[in-house]
Amino acid sequence: MTAQDFIPKPYTKKLDSGSVTWSSPSNIALVKYWGKRKDQIPENPSISFTLDYCKTITTLYFSGKEDRNEYSFEVYLDGDKKDDFKPKIETFFKRVEPYLPFLRDYHFKIETSNSFPHSSGIASSASGMSALALCLMSVEKQFFTSSAVDKSHFSDDYFNQKASFLARLGSGSACRSLEGDLVVWGKHDKIAGSSDLFGVKYPYEVHQSFRNYQDTILLVDKGEKQVSSTVGHNLMHGHPFAKKRFLQAHEHMEKLMTVFKTGDLDGFISIVESEALTLHAMMMTSMPYFILMRPNTLEIINKIWIYRKKTNSKVCFTLDAGANVHVLYPENEKHQVLQFIQRELIVHCQHGHYICDQIGFGANQIED
Ligand code: PMV
Repeated sequence: MTAQDFIPKPYTKKLDSGSVTWSSPSNIALVKYWGKRKDQIPENPSISFTLDYCKTITTLYFSGKEDRNEYSFEVYLDGDKKDDFKPKIETFFKRVEPYLPFLRDYHFKIETSNSFPHSSGIASSASGMSALALCLMSVEKQFFTSSAVDKSHFSDDYFNQKASFLARLGSGSACRSLEGDLVVWGKHDKIAGSSDLFGVKYPYEVHQSFRNYQDTILLVDKGEKQVSSTVGHNLMHGHPFAKKRFLQAHEHMEKLMTVFKTGDLDGFISIVESEALTLHAMMMTSMPYFILMRPNTLEIINKIWIYRKKTNSKVCFTLDAGANVHVLYPENEKHQVLQFIQRELIVHCQHGHYICDQIGFGANQIED
């Protein structure tokens, strides 16, 4: 597959107006994507758990317009007009227009809401961009008569690949949110079908220990990030440890393949925690350098290590590009780990807030 394959054939049907709705989840990377080339091509492969509860629901209304000079759209979050979201969507439209030539033919109203509070410090870009990409794909699908859909390229695989390809152009990690429960993005020699252009469902057997894996997100700092991930990714250009880091991600992916097959939870813990700390080490060794962890992030990590040593639990942590901590654990430890979290970790959360989530299975279209 190349990017050219996502340029559509001429549309066979015209529509005046309509609407589509998709619900799409967030995801948490186990092997992290940090560093990218032009057009959001990742410097290394990554793999994530798709989440279940944390998601965005987006309805896209479209109505035909005459003037093709510019894009025309409005955005609402929970019913409130959000003009500050427009620049990001405008950039997204510019990037995806070669693949969605109808963008200037319509006025769009984008109505979106998240299952998690906007001010939780949880990035909504993965769920938000994937939901929008899926809506745009559902609109495009309607521009083909059913015989053209059947004959041509609109198989489910093509639909998912192109939606993931478009989501990637909005926010890299968004391309891993469409399916579940494990998604790979970025070419890896040992993973058949893996691609830099879109996310694919992890294609091999996964041990039952990972079924319904739990993710409790501890909200340590709900504020805006001081350094955006776009800036962080760019600081990997010329980073003194970049080459070695990208190599390490390939190695971690390969080790995880064995872990998923055998159910080796200790192996899982060491790769996942190393990935989280490496991500933050890359930030701390960038020029300019920056720190996104907070004192409470470290308190939580230390308490998880002490608890694990004391109880032999398989609980571990991972981090996103922020201060919040994702506490990962097998379903059979749900009861004990939640008690531990409530007893010892919640004191380190802003206003005691946390979100209970678990592995999920991807996006869904919501019919009217
Ligand atoms: O998708 P972006 O550009 O916001 O980058 C996200 C990068 C991390 O969340 C830190 C890691 C990852 O693979 O999701």
